[in-house]
Amino acid sequence: MTESATTTTDPEALRTLARSALLSARDRTALLTDSVEDAELTAQVSPLMSPLVWDLAHIGNQEEQWLLRAVAGRDAIRPEIDPLYDAFEHPRAERPSLPLLPPAEARRYAAEVRGRALDVLDAHPFHGSPLTDAGFAFGMIAQHEQQHDETMLITHQLRTGPVALTAPDPDPDPGFTGPAEVLVPGGRFTMGTSTEPWALDNERPAHHRLVPPFVIDTTPVTNGAYRAFVEDGGYDDERWWDPRGWDHIRAHEITAPLFWRREGGQWLRRRFGVTEPVVADEPVLHVGWFEADAYARWAGRRLPTETEWEKAARFDPATGRSTRYPWGDADPTPEHANLGQRHLRPAVAGSYPKGASPLGVRQLIGDVWEWTSSDLLPYPGFVAFPYREYSEVFFGGDYKVLRGGSFAVGAVACRGTFRNWDHPVRRQIFSGFRTARDVTPADGVADGVRPEGA
Ligand code: AVJ
Ligand code: FE
Repeated sequence: MTESATTTTDPEALRTLARSALLSARDRTALLTDSVEDAELTAQVSPLMSPLVWDLAHIGNQEEQWLLRAVAGRDAIRPEIDPLYDAFEHPRAERPSLPLLPPAEARRYAAEVRGRALDVLDAHPFHGSPLTDAGFAFGMIAQHEQQHDETMLITHQLRTGPVALTAPDPDPDPGFTGPAEVLVPGGRFTMGTSTEPWALDNERPAHHRLVPPFVIDTTPVTNGAYRAFVEDGGYDDERWWDPRGWDHIRAHEITAPLFWRREGGQWLRRRFGVTEPVVADEPVLHVGWFEADAYARWAGRRLPTETEWEKAARFDPATGRSTRYPWGDADPTPEHANLGQRHLRPAVAGSYPKGASPLGVRQLIGDVWEWTSSDLLPYPGFVAFPYREYSEVFFGGDYKVLRGGSFAVGAVACRGTFRNWDHPVRRQIFSGFRTARDVTPADGVADGVRPEGA
């Protein structure tokens, strides 16, 4: 495979990385759960979400199951609570009525697990078993906590009262003047990974795909562009909509992105408890797949496939190889991407020139999750690991793939190969999109795929 393999393989470097990933995830969990009163931790803000106190103890319970029991062979600390924190036994809407650990106990439990897990991390060999080779289980658990941190941030966004989270705004003007779209050449591309040490099962294995040439937006679609669709009557015109999406927006009287409202000729939105004008040049946020798909059709374009998205993000035309990130193989820094809840909003379109791909596509990583046209399916050669419920049980379901990560994604859970998914109606997530199109004669390239090896 022509995949990059320059990532760290030194076990002591990976151990240090795992420790800092676990610690920074816990700092973020504390910020998200210490910023509200106990009564709000146990409340259910929306039937789509768990009470925050459930996420907190679930984070500890997953860590106990994998790092203390599976890796270190320890007995359960509190075996009776496992079923309460099993996401498959209890759908989110049911969780507030369970006998959950109250906030102080949930905190104590998560802290006790963490103390023991760090001892395991210090002592356990990073070789000799698939679960701990290269520290996989520790990386997986750090990613799991960061994923629930994003989930908890979504819960905060859904709260209608004041939200006690603050962060500086990103740079309001990157001065971007580049082209609106980029041509990605056709040909062979290596998708997925077999070498990234903490890649999750659904990102594996690396495999070749032949991709016809295509054109993709340089940046995510902005609020201003999306507003033009809204004001052109886009939500009243059945032509643009997938039939299921049309039924859904009619039944639920959806007329704009979630959290938007129109007042006196101006569009306002609620963002973490504050109502403010919609910023025209910021990527649109809180749209579902049906809305992204409808916008693209209205614009005479389409959503990129998942393969196209990953090729735009990872393919380096100079070498023909796939890199870990658009900018290369180096881990993300604040100059590359808006990640990790450093800001509480996406940066305006055209930001992060250092995070651009070799072809000049920007903001593929961070800012907003990007809907693709693809259903969630396994790659050829997929093997569920270490548990079927992470990915396998979702394959072939009613899920569309999202790529790239949002401002709310922790860096440890973000890379060019990372795959997220959700139902096409979901819009409480930090989701946006960019559009793509097939090449035309005016693009000056043959629209066929170059033969293998050409
Ligand atoms: C991969 C983001 C869809 O949040 O439901 C968390 C990740 N899996 N705990 C989710 C996950 C188990 C998952 N997503
Ligand atoms: Fe989970």
